[in-house]
Amino acid sequence: MLKRGATQMDFSSRKQEADEIILSFLPEVKGYDKTLLEAMDYSVRAGGKRLRPILILATGRMYGASKEELAPFMAAMEFIHTYSLVHDDLPAMDDDLLRRGNPTTHAKYGAGMGTLAGDGLLSEAFAIMSRCVTKSIISDRKKGIRAARAMEILAEKAGIDGMVGGQSLDVESDKSGRDITPEEMEYIYENKTSALLEGAMMAGAMIGEASDADIELIEKAGSALGRAFQIRDDILDMVGDEKTLGKSTGQDARNGKSTYASVHGIEESEKAVKELTGEASDHIRALSGVKDQKEREFVLELFGTLTERNK
Ligand code: IPE
Ligand code: IPE
Ligand code: MG
Ligand code: MG
Ligand code: MG
Repeated sequence: MLKRGATQMDFSSRKQEADEIILSFLPEVKGYDKTLLEAMDYSVRAGGKRLRPILILATGRMYGASKEELAPFMAAMEFIHTYSLVHDDLPAMDDDLLRRGNPTTHAKYGAGMGTLAGDGLLSEAFAIMSRCVTKSIISDRKKGIRAARAMEILAEKAGIDGMVGGQSLDVESDKSGRDITPEEMEYIYENKTSALLEGAMMAGAMIGEASDADIELIEKAGSALGRAFQIRDDILDMVGDEKTLGKSTGQDARNGKSTYASVHGIEESEKAVKELTGEASDHIRALSGVKDQKEREFVLELFGTLTERNK
């Protein structure tokens, strides 16, 4: 086992590694659509934990993939995640003014430009991945097919059977004023939050040489991790510190949103976060084709730190 301190240092250097890659894929801010490009740049540069790209890199490395092979998917993933936040904050959705410690994109550039910045980030993500697929097919057909399948995973996890699907019921339940059923809540959490975490880890494993059985286990790990992650997010919305979080607290209550934490209370929610994280970790421990055990240890340590995260 790695020592806690050692991994934490590891974590900050991995965040730096992810940041360098993500920023290198940002389009140049110039031309008649300069304001749009500036708004995209602003949203991505604001930072964030970079959790999903870090997971792509670690999971890919677990199966022998290189940083160069994984880089386009790391950037695309963070562009998709950032777009989901930019749209989530819009006045027509959660109506938030603070994100990653800065004014939200629409607060700074207006709702129209905020909408377009999200659209631009999503399209750019697929441009980055498809360029990579074309290049890999030319140089190594087998690798090219794996890259294409990784792109397919991210498309599915980001779209109607994933994040967008989850957000749609989340928005509907916000406005309806009725309490959502436990099954509806399960659907929302699985899709709005778990889907992208599943996609990140599955795409990494797909770029590596993971078997279908391992990719299935990784999907289950991402599902449990995502539900834990969202419940922790709900807890922080209720009792977190705005400055540390970099986003407004109390917004779920103001929006009349019932969350796992508001329905079950903090104590039970904290218990659920621990249990789900344990479940996610068990799936990672059960993977049979891992080549780099150090990367598996890192993933497990990372899961552990997320249960007590304050931002
Ligand atoms: C926020 O995601 C949205 C949720 C799924 C709860 P993160 O907490 O990963 O946001 P950043 O990227 O660190 O800002
Ligand atoms: C959002 O959930 C999940 C997304 C797909 C963006 P929240 O609405 O709770 O996320 P925050 O709290 O605004 O980051
Ligand atoms: Mg929301
Ligand atoms: Mg929100
Ligand atoms: Mg939230």
